Amino acid sequence: MKIGIVGTGMVGSAAGYAMALLGVGTEIVLVDANPALARAQAQDIAHATPFATTVAVRAGDYADLKNAAVVIIAAGVSQKPGESRLALLERNVEVFRSVIAGVMKAAPEAILLIATNPLDVMTFAAQRISGLPVERVIGSGTILDTARLRSLLGDHLGIAPNSVHAYVLGEHGDSEVPVWSSAMAGSVPIVSFAEQIGRPLDAAARTQIADQVRGAAYTIIEGKGATWYGIGAGLARIVRSITDDERTVLSVSMVTGEIEGVRDVALSLPRVIGREGVVATLMPDLDAGERAALKHSAEVISGFSTKLRF
Ligand code: LAC
Repeated sequence: MKIGIVGTGMVGSAAGYAMALLGVGTEIVLVDANPALARAQAQDIAHATPFATTVAVRAGDYADLKNAAVVIIAAGVSQKPGESRLALLERNVEVFRSVIAGVMKAAPEAILLIATNPLDVMTFAAQRISGLPVERVIGSGTILDTARLRSLLGDHLGIAPNSVHAYVLGEHGDSEVPVWSSAMAGSVPIVSFAEQIGRPLDAAARTQIADQVRGAAYTIIEGKGATWYGIGAGLARIVRSITDDERTVLSVSMVTGEIEGVRDVALSLPRVIGREGVVATLMPDLDAGERAALKHSAEVISGFSTKLRF
């Protein structure tokens, strides 16, 4: 299957690299406003494939996205010094208007996978601009935050992250919500498992882990200016669930009709991802504090989405 990537900066190219190494898709087409960059990224990634898979990687223009099953949109401009988040948003919405027009013309059947921050509002904008059904406009959302949470909990408990079943919901951002009340280690509630093995997850430990998850991007950006490997692998994971119709449950963003009284907002919930996009959404049981936090997160995102006047 052909996978398109529009925007071949660090995030887009990292997604292409991850897919090439993991054998996600059979053909990856890189498109960028700077064709020389797209060509260079495609060549560099293609030189990795002989060590891994037979995925064909090439640069192209929008017409080359024809018949793509999924198009990752990682295009966007970065914040100017002193620029407000809303001003950045409005500039990125204009970028999306031209990018999505090009994608829809070449690949009207493709599922759009949004990676541009602020992620949830850009997912909302992409759905409104494209007019596609909400299930076919997926944002990477909190897939990376959930991975970060599972990794930290795995370290704390001495178990593999893939045996930690815990989710971060809501905004991919400061208001995100780690859900402890339904978190499991294997088939055991995580807090009681932690007690059993003498590594308690008391309130202080949970707060510390949640702060590390919420602050991970800031910490990495301080050291290297941006993040890209984690999100690149997360995007590849979502694409594989689509191309292989896996129906894996992943915490991803999608325009949601109503959540905790907030209407028409894109945020992350555990969702079943298959060939047609989001197949179903699972609404976990939340305790009162988690419900209030999810409501707040939805309100934060909605506060920006509504300002875009779609
Ligand atoms: C991060 C970026 C992808 O959380 O928002 O690393």
